[in-house]
Amino acid sequence: MESPILAPSMLAADHTRLADDIAAVEKLGLRWLHLDIMDGHFVPNLSFGPQTVADLRPKSKLFFDVHLMLDNPQDYVEAFIKAGADQVSIHVEPEYDISSTLERIRSLGAKPGIVFNPKTPAEAVYPYLPYIDIVLAMTVQPGFGGQVFDESVLEKTIELDAFRARNSLNFRIEVDGGVNLETARLCRAAKVDTFVAGTAFFKADDRSAFLAAIESMD
Ligand code: DX5
Ligand code: ZN
Repeated sequence: MESPILAPSMLAADHTRLADDIAAVEKLGLRWLHLDIMDGHFVPNLSFGPQTVADLRPKSKLFFDVHLMLDNPQDYVEAFIKAGADQVSIHVEPEYDISSTLERIRSLGAKPGIVFNPKTPAEAVYPYLPYIDIVLAMTVQPGFGGQVFDESVLEKTIELDAFRARNSLNFRIEVDGGVNLETARLCRAAKVDTFVAGTAFFKADDRSAFLAAIESMD
């Protein structure tokens, strides 16, 4: 299995001082930052747009893992990649041309990812798995930080791992929502290698210990 990566979700940072919070993350030795983009339609909340990503880009060397929770992601991938996204993940649920959007993400120089919600069957993403670098399994209904982890999703990460082996593919498997040290251990046992954590990371008494605990999981 790939070694574990922790991707703190910027949603849980202090939005009046994002640059400082992100610098603190980078100083701990983290490599990834997860950026949640919400449109008020696909999910019942709003977050931030490409301008914020572009303003943060020159201040950070972190790998920007951008999660688009949008009804029309095809209209925004270019703006986020120009703003500095290293990876862009798009949901499988809305109606749009998913394959061509994944191709466009790659041709614009970023890594493509596919995301599915807790109630969506894992099979929905199978057609896209040969073309992506990461599959993101939502472990909460997206829209808000601080929700309770849905354990039922872990049978799907196990299915994804089996699909990967059967087809000799090489994508990462990421979870997002309600991830803390306890639920992360369950995820690791279910073949997850990439852990988004908002609340649990930013509110941790000892962020460095939180990171070390994730990175040392077998
Ligand atoms: C959910 C977002 C998550 C969220 C995770 O809509 O996609 O990335 O910030 O937050 P926690 O870790 O607090 O559940
Ligand atoms: Zn996310």
